[in-house]
Amino acid sequence: MKNSKIVGVGHYVPENVVTNHDLEKLMDTSDEWIVERTGIRERRYFDYTKDTCSNMASRATKMALERANVDVNEIDLIVFATITPDYMFPGSGVLMQRELGLDKKAIPAIDIRNACSGFIYALSIADQFIKTGMYKTVAVVGSEIQSSALEFSDRQRHVSVIFGDGAGAMILQATDEPGKGVLSTHMHSDGTFAEELYVKDPGSSRKREERMTHEMLEGLSLRAHMNGNLVFKHAVVRFTEAIMEALTANGKKKEDIDLLVPHQANLRINNFIQQKLELSEDRVYNNIQRYGNTTAATIPISLSEAWAEGKIKDNDLICLAAFGSGFTWASALINW
Ligand code: ACO
Repeated sequence: MKNSKIVGVGHYVPENVVTNHDLEKLMDTSDEWIVERTGIRERRYFDYTKDTCSNMASRATKMALERANVDVNEIDLIVFATITPDYMFPGSGVLMQRELGLDKKAIPAIDIRNACSGFIYALSIADQFIKTGMYKTVAVVGSEIQSSALEFSDRQRHVSVIFGDGAGAMILQATDEPGKGVLSTHMHSDGTFAEELYVKDPGSSRKREERMTHEMLEGLSLRAHMNGNLVFKHAVVRFTEAIMEALTANGKKKEDIDLLVPHQANLRINNFIQQKLELSEDRVYNNIQRYGNTTAATIPISLSEAWAEGKIKDNDLICLAAFGSGFTWASALINW
């Protein structure tokens, strides 16, 4: 059986930096509240004249390919994680395929919409295809444009301050090297809590005349509804469980982790996990301070930055973990 080796990681974040002080001008919030409750100091918002969900992902993929010294034409599968696709349909995977000039090769493109866990779900799917020998070089990406759906109002301030835009990518290649690359992935979900963190409209399952109404524009159903406290409580439990599950599956201990790269939803969640697992601060990667929560893009952006900063080296044991809407949660253990 083949293993999936990570040969390159890349990212793209829009140039436009939006600080907490910028948000103070738009709604009743403060830099102090945002930093204390979330750790976020600034985030990036896309420029609608040049950034799209799919072209940000292409740019991240190009960086990953360049760092890996792999030609774009070697890609034989795209797995694209996003909850903010360019269109309602088709998915953004085919748009990235076209951007990369791979349309003539007619390679498959899969879209994954598992929110904050989306990248690990996408990685798991890519890994299975490599393990079975069906594909050799896979581009796994996470890309999000959240800012165009945010409402800068007091009623939505708990949501609007946390999200940002960006994209990250990973190139996986099949290897015969034993014990190299993705060691295991673990995915879970619990639909009991689907409506605790969701965007309701324009949903399909209602009378035709109620699918899109003028009232929706005034109400909150087109915006993200988030029961922040409940999400927080579940996140800290599920994160720890998922990390321990990945370690146990591979006969490893928490002390063996060289770098934990958790989803970036709240710095307090990540600090809690770090303390619970008794990991030193330098073994947990955080960049939420600069980007906020970029949903499916947070993990690949973090991996790309951590790699560039020399915090991920060959044969390091890297643990990924995420929790989000669904609820869904997931983890992965990688021998880099
Ligand atoms: N600025 C100022 N005050 C605010 C803001 C704001 N931006 N937002 C909320 N407040 C106020 C509230 O109105 C409330 O005021 P009150 O006490 O007078 O009623 C007070 O602050 C406390 O509000 P809480 O919602 O209890 O604040 P909390 O400490 O829970 O922080 C937060 C909110 C940051 C959203 C937190 O709950 C959280 O991070 N939850 C987890 C989010 C998460 O993990 N999401 C998953 C990923 S997203 C995805 O999957 C798509």
